[in-house]
Amino acid sequence: MKIAVTGGAGFIGSHLCEKLVEKHEVTAVDNFSSGLRENLPEKVEIVEHDIKEKGLEEIFQDKDVVFHLAANPKVNTFPDDRDKDFDENLEGTHNVLDAAETSNVEEIIFTSSSVVYGEDAEIPTPEDANLDPISMYGATKAGGEHMCSVYSEIFDIDLTIVRLANIVGGRNQKGVIYDFIHKLKDNPEKLVILGNGKQRKSYLHVEDTVEGFIKAWESDKTVFNIGSEDSIDVDGIAEIVAEEMDLEPEYEYTGGEKGWEGDVPEMRLSIEKLKNEGWRPEHNSSSSVRKTVQELLDR
Ligand SMILES: NC(=O)c1ccc[n+]([C@@H]2O[C@H](COP(=O)([O-])OP(=O)(O)OC[C@H]3O[C@@H](n4cnc5c(N)ncnc54)[C@H](O)[C@@H]3O)[C@@H](O)[C@H]2O)c1
Repeated sequence: MKIAVTGGAGFIGSHLCEKLVEKHEVTAVDNFSSGLRENLPEKVEIVEHDIKEKGLEEIFQDKDVVFHLAANPKVNTFPDDRDKDFDENLEGTHNVLDAAETSNVEEIIFTSSSVVYGEDAEIPTPEDANLDPISMYGATKAGGEHMCSVYSEIFDIDLTIVRLANIVGGRNQKGVIYDFIHKLKDNPEKLVILGNGKQRKSYLHVEDTVEGFIKAWESDKTVFNIGSEDSIDVDGIAEIVAEEMDLEPEYEYTGGEKGWEGDVPEMRLSIEKLKNEGWRPEHNSSSSVRKTVQELLDR
């Protein structure tokens, strides 16, 4: 098959391209705002393009499938920047859908997030829970899902939506593990932790995540959560990072239940639906975190 991966040079996108190119012809479409060319193997064709701009039709013209990952991946850009989530995640996704439809792409895989469920969902959260986001990032991911459903319904395009927990791995360039390592490299004596350290979430290594993407794509069902079966709190992550760096820092907390405005302090997804399709994550939250710390320290 001929597959385009938007955001293909990014953290998750590049791992996905590596996997897909084992069996398919893969084109990574990326504006390199955070993605890196060196993330991609030679066999993957690279097209530098911003999904907000016209011209996607030509790129998608001969493609059977589009995996759409390009987005503003930062969860807390709003309200400092009031436009970015809207521009990248809604306008960008609309362009991708429109170009896919006019190019007769048969299938779209949309990358959504656990944050679409908001903070009041039952835990573990099943796929049929209400979408009730509390951040602009979450709102635009939920909006992206709905736009995908409309295009799928009206134009008869196959659709898969994956809602990801916190995905971690050695190519992380942001997130709590990356931040802790860098803070401790700057000052090994003290670690400042956002919130009270009790925010508890599910973390999954990117290798398991990519297997999950493929399994979800192969299924004839539409919406899947991808995460680990358990969760870990921020204090637990700090301990693993300190242990792997052989440090005993003093912890200082900024306070409050949330790391930032719009943060969902507890998240764990039900992954039964994808497990029923035959997928099993190899890692739990703490082994995903530990493997990532080791990979980041080796980088
Ligand atoms: N990492 C996570 O924990 C996580 C969790 C839930 C959902 N997601 C979603 O997964 C996807 C990938 O995230 P990631 O963590 O790999 O982040 P990332 O920043 O590494 O990847 C995003 C990629 O998209 C590219 N991009 C951004 N805007 C673009 C544009 N306008 N045109 C073309 N390319 C553009 C970037 O250069 C980058 O290569 C995103 O949609 C993100 O919202 C990630």
